[in-house]
Amino acid sequence: MPTKFSFHLPNSLRMGLLIAALVGLLIAALAWFQIERERRNDLEEMDRRAYVLAHQMAYPVQVALQLPDSEAATALGSMLEGYRRLIGLAIYRADGRLVAAGKGVADFSSLLDPIVEQVLAESKDIVEVRRTADAHIHLLASVIRAPDGQPQGALAVLHDLVSLDERATHRRAQFGFWIGFIVLSLLILTVAGAWAFYDRSLNRLAEWMRQLRTGDAVEAPPIQLPIARLANESDRLASSLRVARLAQQAQARAVMHATNAWTRDRLRAHVVDCLRGGQLVVVSNREPYMHELREGKPHLIMPAGGLVTALDPVLQACGGVWVAHGSGEADRRMADAQGRLAVPPDDPTYTLRRVWLTREEEQGYYYGFANEGLWPLCHLAHERPIFRAGDWEHYVRANRRFAEAALEEAGSGPAVVLVQDYQMALVPRFLKEARPELAVGIFWHIPWPNPEAFRICPWGPDLLRGILGADLIGFHLQQHCNNFLDTVDRTIEARLDWDHFAVELQGHPSLVRPFPISVESWDERHVLTGAELERQIADLQERYKLGQGRVAVGVDRIDYTKGMTERFRAVARFFERCPQYREQFTFVQLGAPSRTHIPRYRNYINELETLADDINWRFQTESWKPIRFLIGHHDGATVHAFLRMAEIGIVSSLHDGMNLVAKEFVAAKSNLDGVLILSEFAGAARELVDALIINPYDTEQFAEAIRRALEMAPEEREARMARMRRQVEENNIYRWAANFLADLTAVPIPTPSTQETA
Ligand code: F6P
Repeated sequence: MPTKFSFHLPNSLRMGLLIAALVGLLIAALAWFQIERERRNDLEEMDRRAYVLAHQMAYPVQVALQLPDSEAATALGSMLEGYRRLIGLAIYRADGRLVAAGKGVADFSSLLDPIVEQVLAESKDIVEVRRTADAHIHLLASVIRAPDGQPQGALAVLHDLVSLDERATHRRAQFGFWIGFIVLSLLILTVAGAWAFYDRSLNRLAEWMRQLRTGDAVEAPPIQLPIARLANESDRLASSLRVARLAQQAQARAVMHATNAWTRDRLRAHVVDCLRGGQLVVVSNREPYMHELREGKPHLIMPAGGLVTALDPVLQACGGVWVAHGSGEADRRMADAQGRLAVPPDDPTYTLRRVWLTREEEQGYYYGFANEGLWPLCHLAHERPIFRAGDWEHYVRANRRFAEAALEEAGSGPAVVLVQDYQMALVPRFLKEARPELAVGIFWHIPWPNPEAFRICPWGPDLLRGILGADLIGFHLQQHCNNFLDTVDRTIEARLDWDHFAVELQGHPSLVRPFPISVESWDERHVLTGAELERQIADLQERYKLGQGRVAVGVDRIDYTKGMTERFRAVARFFERCPQYREQFTFVQLGAPSRTHIPRYRNYINELETLADDINWRFQTESWKPIRFLIGHHDGATVHAFLRMAEIGIVSSLHDGMNLVAKEFVAAKSNLDGVLILSEFAGAARELVDALIINPYDTEQFAEAIRRALEMAPEEREARMARMRRQVEENNIYRWAANFLADLTAVPIPTPSTQETA
């Protein structure tokens, strides 16, 4: 009788397979549930966006519907066009006739017409998701009412849902990976467990597996394998586990980033919640987009400086109005009669309202009081502040002008006003005197000095009273908050609450808090990547004769607080100490001229040029110069290319609120290949502790840091840069704005009626 072949799995193995199958099923069910929930959240978010847009458009559409068709279309202009996920908008008369529509909307007219008819017939908004043969869209059809409440027409808002579909597919792929990974791990553990039992070496095997998990290299499993071929198999297992572990770590980082990161979209949703239908207004001296004259024609630039770098992405995310001084030569030509224009000009997301000042006002307020007085007062750079009574008068007048423009832009409804920096210290009080119910915050982008230093300002008490008009006062560092409270304590009659970091002046409370500012990631900006970036870098290397040598870079406004003379001296000392690096290493300084009507700034440029020439003359060879000092305005893409090219970023401020260049450098180093040398006197040094921290006044230490950066082992560079990148990615500009707005809008603000009864 032929023997029946039977295959027996050991019990432990059978149990392991069963558990792997059950765990796989359980995770698949949880994943399905989670994906569904996120899809629902995405759709709710889309509903909310469509409603916010419809709400914003209701008034202009209602006005336009009072005009004949052709004029209505002209009046609404590009407001009906879509961008990114928004396909566009369409407006209809009360009889269902289409008046005007964005370009992308035409393809959907057969779908829209019956829905709009229904909306008009039932006088009720409809929100729906529709899938056609080649599109997946979200649509909101909303009734437009005349002031007497009668339906006057309808507005349709169409969004493309393809990106949400892609996001869902991506999530499914992520979950697929995790399910596969966990089931595979369980299977491997089951097989390995059975094997180890056979060999009675379970403990040693567990240790081997632990080493594999934690990444310690092991050559072969520490157990006696019965068959030689299996030894090779185990090597393969070890290496595939290592690969899986690396993939798992990358995946875990990506998942952590996706769930924890603040993005434009997340901030936009958060701001809608915080503002509850109110207007967002930012007030600063410097404008984010400036029109200069080049060869008689307007030329657009983004001015250098941390404030613009930080706040433009926030306004791009949230919309609103930015009130600022129109200081460009061609600014008036490019704005309307009220000084308004939509920005960014190539893809508008918010409004810039330019405030006009005369030459004399600009001289007294900006160059004089703000930059010859307050700037050196707040920065400990051993530059003597100059205070003139005439400059102060201009400062008061200009601040009043900015406050008036902000009040106009805030309208008569609820609004949140974010006042920026030392040029605007009196604006919070002017705003609150006019409209106590406005939520007003001020963020001070530069350091706040100690009370002894501040005392010399003849108008110190007025400045403090101006700032204390705000409900929330933000600084970069806790130390600046402490200095501010100390200064208030010693200068004016106010009630201080050190436990809650609050000041009460004439019944109005202000909270004082640190909000370390940051940047957005370079991925979100218009800069080159991949092969195009490589080409751009190669061009710059050729243009500035850098060859293939190693490069360090500094990027600054030319300002005596930035420690650029100290930096040049440290480079010279480095070449004295390490002559072997001649022709091997170049320091590139990008310097944007700044405040050049002030003699100290003009002289500083000359000082720096002379110093760079002296150093170059001492060390240069026929084909090489140790310092390339590139004076001029460099656009974002060029700055990014230099940051990517450089192995070392140098920030040597003598005193700085934060210094965003330090964070920009870290944000540019996605390949982890770079070392940051950072002054201990820049606010950024509190967060970027993995930089090589220097005292810029100590030339020997500074030169040694350059040598150390050049000779640092690749693993140490990478580990330091990875930690700094995590810090910058997690605490980006969107998180900063979200925190500031959340704290500001949480402050209870008196309504007009409670004011009267108080
Ligand atoms: O952060 C300090 C600051 O004065 C900002 O207010 C400003 O945007 C930046 O430096 C550049 O200075 P300026 O606007 O005077 O060119």
